[in-house]
Amino acid sequence: MKPVDAALLERIDRYVETLFAPPDPVLDANLTAAAAAGLPPIHVSAAEGKLLYLIARMVGARRALEVGTLGGYSTTWLARALPVGGRLVTLEIDERHAAVARGSLRDAAPGVEIDVLVGDAADTLRALIDGGAEPFDLVFIDADKTRYGEYLELVLRLAHAGTVILADNVIRHGLVLDPASGDPAAQGARAYNAAIAANPRLESIVLPIVRDQIDGLALSWVR
Ligand code: SAH
Ligand code: DHB
Ligand code: MG
Repeated sequence: MKPVDAALLERIDRYVETLFAPPDPVLDANLTAAAAAGLPPIHVSAAEGKLLYLIARMVGARRALEVGTLGGYSTTWLARALPVGGRLVTLEIDERHAAVARGSLRDAAPGVEIDVLVGDAADTLRALIDGGAEPFDLVFIDADKTRYGEYLELVLRLAHAGTVILADNVIRHGLVLDPASGDPAAQGARAYNAAIAANPRLESIVLPIVRDQIDGLALSWVR
């Protein structure tokens, strides 16, 4: 097999981005604000954001749930896919990240209600379940990778037949292939992939995501 050429991967990503996710003032301002606040640049790529947006559009999502807000970049892509009157709930443990996100999300998607809920995502998910929250049409998991399996079990309790559950960073440039990987994030993603593959309530696949390295997006559909 040919060795992976990082420069070529970046050129491919840029090619797709130029065609399908051109510069956008709201998204660009979001990244500028996050960088100015010193947030780590670990948001989804523009191309992956466009993919999230398209999936949300394709399933006609009205209610979306995100686990891991950071500065609200992926939140913005998802919110823009929702109709007027739609609702997006995004969960973030870090008050600073949540504050930056709230600032950037204020005018990100007019007519869509966006709630940034601060706290440990598992606690917030349990509170939503206990509070009888209406199920979500689409879920995007992108917080601490070691706990993806726990988040999956919880979000399944906030899902209906047809809900789409997405999870970021499930390939980690191939680190997930190694059952003995010393990388806890890769182990978490590997366990998540095994869990969605084995869950009889789900039909799933993992798509490679091209960036400077190859990562992946898990897609699951609730029966
Ligand atoms: N979805 C964002 C990136 C999220 S980065 C985007 O693509 O734009 C992961 C985020 O998850 C970080 O902001 C981190 O603070 C948050 N996080 C980590 N552990 C968490 C937890 N236990 N509960 C909620 N959020 C958590
Ligand atoms: C990291 C987290 C992410 O969600 C991501 O997309 C890339 C990197 C990280 O924690 O390093
Ligand atoms: Mg991610």
